[in-house]
Parts: sequence; structure tokens; C-alpha cells
Amino acid sequence: MKVLLIGGGGREHAIAASLVKSPRVDKLYCAPGNAGIAKIAECVNIGTMDFDKLTQFAQDNAIDLSVCSMDDPLCAGIVDAFEAKGLKIFGTRANAAIIEGSKAFSKDLMKKYGIPTAAYEIFSDADKALKYLETASYPIVLKASGLALGKGVLICNTHEEAVAGIGELMLDKKFGTAGDKIVIEEFMTGREVSVLAFVDGSHYKLMTSSQDHKRAGDGDTGLNTGGMGTFSPSPFYTPEVDAYCREHIYQKTVDAMKAEGRPFTGVLYFGLMLTPNGPRVLEYNTRFGDPETQVVLPRMKTDIVDVMEACMNGTLDQIELEYEDNAAVCVVLASGGYPESYEKGKVITGLDTFDGKEDYFCFHAGTKFDDRGNVVTNGGRVLGVVALGDDLKQARAKAYEATAWVSFDKMYKRNDIGKALDSIDL
Ligand code: AMP
Ligand code: GLY
Repeated sequence: MKVLLIGGGGREHAIAASLVKSPRVDKLYCAPGNAGIAKIAECVNIGTMDFDKLTQFAQDNAIDLSVCSMDDPLCAGIVDAFEAKGLKIFGTRANAAIIEGSKAFSKDLMKKYGIPTAAYEIFSDADKALKYLETASYPIVLKASGLALGKGVLICNTHEEAVAGIGELMLDKKFGTAGDKIVIEEFMTGREVSVLAFVDGSHYKLMTSSQDHKRAGDGDTGLNTGGMGTFSPSPFYTPEVDAYCREHIYQKTVDAMKAEGRPFTGVLYFGLMLTPNGPRVLEYNTRFGDPETQVVLPRMKTDIVDVMEACMNGTLDQIELEYEDNAAVCVVLASGGYPESYEKGKVITGLDTFDGKEDYFCFHAGTKFDDRGNVVTNGGRVLGVVALGDDLKQARAKAYEATAWVSFDKMYKRNDIGKALDSIDL
């Protein structure tokens, strides 16, 4: 079959690698792709929000299946646009993608259906939010309700910080209209775990667990980023946690969306915090996580096309989702300065070292070819270096070893991805 993948980040490179592994895929296109994806797919220069051109391309090229796992296009209705033209696409319709697109929606959904999450209030008026903060307890968490590249969350330790936060989100509009409505939420503590599930409207199948590292600096310091590294599985996701979440979170969420007339199809990402009072939902995403996907999909044994089709056909209960009994670690190589300002266009060397090595992957996030055919940096997060190992410690050692194979000017990485694992007996 012919497949069109939409996007061009590290997550898409990992999805592309899974797709080309499927014996069912004869030809893979990727719009717009990147310099790494170009090695395994034909890149097409169409933007991810250009639904007219994308659907036209799918029609002209007799694409059998399109795949989109990006928040902006999903929330803007890319699945609806493809389906309106009779085209098959794996992803979530806009009316269900709102579970990520509006934190106010997802918080109200959880409250209505008794799904455990932090206590919260929603405000669309800055004065009312400021008044509420006068008597609130600290720390407190402010969240822009809309999409903000994963950066619209402020943890405020004091009343002064929270007042400044309201200014940023609601008055200065740092995240544009995403901050028109905000969620003010109870601060929780605990380890974070990402659990991704394939969902077909009624049933879910969990992928193996993982953990992201969102802060820019070692020791979880510095600004929030799109994600600086991941490991999978998470040893903190114990059978007890799993049982609790199956009973109180996963099926309840799928059923709630169905009951609201917004059946969820695609990948549902549960961002969980394991608090002293039990697991709580921090956030939902309507897509594969980035860079969680880079450690989850290389461990998946089941043919991804079979799973995606089952999601679209409502037959996911008939699929056995299998994972290798191993571990994976991803270390993100970023441009110095990220997530604030950074330079682009730096030549990347050493990429060939990954060729032919089965246990190692170098997923491209922000790369492109320059005029002379060199692969150059083209974003904040540039590469995701992934290694598989028998266990997490081995995978981590291998991933860090492989980060030395590539280089570019002002390359930055965290040195403690998966360091929390040192403190436990694996
Ligand atoms: P979100 O985009 O909602 O996942 O938030 C981004 C990050 O902010 C999370 O991964 C957490 O590290 C942190 N965070 C979000 N909500 C809370 C909360 N209620 N308490 C403590 N930390 C939080
Ligand atoms: N890694 C977090 C996210 O994809 O939103």
C-alpha cells in the first residue's frame, strides 16, 4: 500500500521507521519530512496545515492510508478534511482532538466523569483570576487552555510569580489566544509517566510506558522544552499503578469521550503523575508523544499498519499489541540556546555512523539539506539519539556513547536522561 505521513519531526521519523518496517507498506511519502526521513521516504514539500494540498496529493497519488500525529493539524480538523474527500487517515477528528486542544475541556471532562486529576478552576477574565490568587495556596500551577507548544504551563511558587504569570498568559498574550482561557490548578508532586494508547472509539490498547524529561537543564532545572530525552519502559509504572489506571483512568476516558458524542480514534496520550495519593492525569494529548515515540515504537513488535487499521475499523479488541522485552533510551541533541533563541544551519557530521546498526537510531527532528547537500540543523531539537539495550542501564550507556558519534556547532544535550534509574534496583 501507499502511505502518506504528515509532519517532519523526530516523532515522525520514528513513525516513518515503523511504517517502512511493515511488509504491507510499498511506498511511503512524508510531507514535509526532514533530512533523516528522506532516507526512508519520499519527502513532499507541503505544509502540515495545508489540508487542500495534502488531500489533493493523496487523491492524485492514490494514497491508501494517511497518518497524522500532530496537535495543530488534528485540532484544526485534518482528519475531517481527509474523510470529507473519502480518504482514509489515521488520527483524531477535531471534535475529539479537543481533549488536547482545550485544557478547560479536558479538566471539565475529568471532573464530570470522576477521572482523578488535580483540583482546578477555569478563568477567562484576568481580574477574576487575580482575585482568586489572593487566597490560593502556593505553589500553584497556571496553564494556558489552548495549544502552546507544550510551553504554556507555569509553576508559580509565590503569589507574586502567579500575578506575573497571569500577566504573561492573559494580558501580554505570550501564547496568543491559547491564553484567553486559563486553568489554575493545584500543584502536585510525584514522578511523571507517559502512557500512550491506541484507541478505536470504544477500546484501547496500551503501548509500553515511557518517561520524558521536559526541563532544559540537568537535574530538571531551566525552562520547559518540548522534551530533552526519554526512556522506556518506566520502572515506576508498576503493575499496581497499571491496575489503578485501568480501573480509574483509561477506559473511563474512552467511554467519557464516546458519551460526549466525541468518540476518540487514534493515539491518546495520558500524561500521568504518580502522586502520594495515587496516579493523577496531568494532561491528555491526542497524538504520539515527542520524544516518547522514539523509545516506544522501536520496541513494538506488532505491525503498526495493522494496529492503525484496527483503530479506524473499530476492531482494536482483536489486536494483540506486543513489545520486545528490552529497553530504550533517547537523548535529544539540541541547538545551544534552545528553548530560547538559537542558530540554525550548522553542518551535522557523523550521521553515517548509525548506518547498519540495529540497536541504534538517530531520529532527525530539526534537520534539512543545505544547497550543497549537507545535512544541517534546522530547529531547536535537532536529533534524537536512541539505543536499545537488554535493560535500561545498558540502553542508557549505549545511547550516551552514541551521542559522541555526531556533532554540530553549539550542540547541547542533557547529561542525566534516565539518571533517576540509578537510584533503583532494575
Ligand atoms: P502539561 O503540559 O499539562 O503536562 O504540563 C507540563 C509540565 O508541567 C508537566 O509535565 C509537569 O511537570 C508540570 N505540571 C503540570 N501540571 C502540574 C501540576 N498540577 N502539579 C505539578 N506539576 C505540574
Ligand atoms: N513529550 C511530551 C509531548 O509530546 O507532549
